[in-house]
Amino acid sequence: MSDRVIIFDTTLRDGEQSPGSTMSLEEKIRLARRLELLGVDVIEAGYPASSPGDFKAVETIAGMCEHAEVAGLARAFVPDIDAAWNALKGAKKPRIHIFVATSPLHMEFKLRKTPAEVLDQIRMAVSHAVRYTPNVEFSCEDASRSEPDFLVKACNEAILAGARTINLPDTVGYAQPEDFSALVAHVINNTVKAPDGQEVIFSVHCHNDLGMAVANTLAAVKAGARQVEATVGGIGERAGNAALEEVVMALHVRKDYYGLETGVTTQQIYPTVRLLSRIVAQPIPLNKPIVGANAFAHESGIHQDGVLKHRGTYEIMDPDSIGVPANTLIMGKHSGRRALTSKIQALGYKLNDEQIDMVFAAMKKLADVKKNIFDEDIEALILEEVLRIPDKYELVHLGIHSSDIGVPPTAMIVMTVDGEEKQKSAFGVGPIDAVFNAIAKITNHPYTLDRYSVNAITGGSDAQGEVTVRLVQNGRKAVGRGSHPDVINASARAFINALNRLAKRHEEH
Ligand code: KIV
Ligand code: ZN
Repeated sequence: MSDRVIIFDTTLRDGEQSPGSTMSLEEKIRLARRLELLGVDVIEAGYPASSPGDFKAVETIAGMCEHAEVAGLARAFVPDIDAAWNALKGAKKPRIHIFVATSPLHMEFKLRKTPAEVLDQIRMAVSHAVRYTPNVEFSCEDASRSEPDFLVKACNEAILAGARTINLPDTVGYAQPEDFSALVAHVINNTVKAPDGQEVIFSVHCHNDLGMAVANTLAAVKAGARQVEATVGGIGERAGNAALEEVVMALHVRKDYYGLETGVTTQQIYPTVRLLSRIVAQPIPLNKPIVGANAFAHESGIHQDGVLKHRGTYEIMDPDSIGVPANTLIMGKHSGRRALTSKIQALGYKLNDEQIDMVFAAMKKLADVKKNIFDEDIEALILEEVLRIPDKYELVHLGIHSSDIGVPPTAMIVMTVDGEEKQKSAFGVGPIDAVFNAIAKITNHPYTLDRYSVNAITGGSDAQGEVTVRLVQNGRKAVGRGSHPDVINASARAFINALNRLAKRHEEH
């Protein structure tokens, strides 16, 4: 058995199924580029038959990846498999990923099929897919609640029909590590060998409903799984999937225990998680393992003393090893373009001269109101000023009157809608409510504000505020993010960003 664990990233497919995490095509492309830098082996770019937007995303990412295999998901139906292949055929390394449920509950109530019919469907679907590519993965959906012996039969059908990766998902996050590793070992030990002598790779895909996704994934690896399916930050359907960074760092830090390698460049972990957090406009929780701001913070005196004497006393990983930048003061009013250019490169962004000029101008403007400019500020400027997708709605000006006596808080907003300038004023219970009401008057869309949060990007009372909002409009949810030294302005940007995402999604689907 190989000592290399294949890392299959499904952030763009299962991760995108996480509530409020929908990404535009440009955002998916940006994340896929970063995943290649991270060194994942497989990028599952979407489910082509599900929508024209997903088809396009898979097709585009398939055409652009240099090293990673690109997978497209398909149900075990000919039209789904054909759509997956049509989207994937331009890839250097395409993979068709077929799934069908194998648990009694799913077969009886969801599929309304007998076990024998499901076995036939597996044979038919995998045989159809291998006509397009030998790189076919088959997943037994709800494997952890399937009968172990039926699971073996289902996997045998897939292997004999040509699948060379067999994935056992814990679809509903029900498994416990010991049981799950026993199930994985049972399947590995009892399935047939591939007739062509090629190695069959066993894979797992764990959900986090009971908080066990990473533990179950690692238990399966110990039992012989050599592919793990995971998402950046653990985003995904319901409580999410196994967090890629946690699985990878467990294998890395506890190499003494697992004795296994991955192809991941661990220094790219932190920049990748940050990028995703910005794209889906969800802040990284402070106590998140590996990448949370508190992961390397030592509050207690005893711990601080220990770390000063020897880091290893209370730190099992070096922050450098996952690419956490030292929070160095980098720029100010007098910093030059050349220093900015090398900082942008160090942060992992490739910008052209014109884009660097845009960041430089924005940095100078920010330096007028903020004395110290940190890496996080530069990253926020890049994402706000350069990489922001051309938008339907743009903020031009914002004016606020707010006092605790007399007239209620009032906002005046000037913004463009498809390039045309519009202006409106509105009252609110507070200044932010007034801003949102004025924007809603301009865009003429009723909305519900589902979530609002504000964080300081860096320390200091002049720090840029980073606001995240979640809007619900006609039953559709979208998150938006905005940053600015003035939190009211940041709030307006976040709100408009969410409206743009809703508009963009409407166009793509
Ligand atoms: O959770 C699951 O079972 C899945 C499959 C489609 C692999 O996402
Ligand atoms: Zn899943």
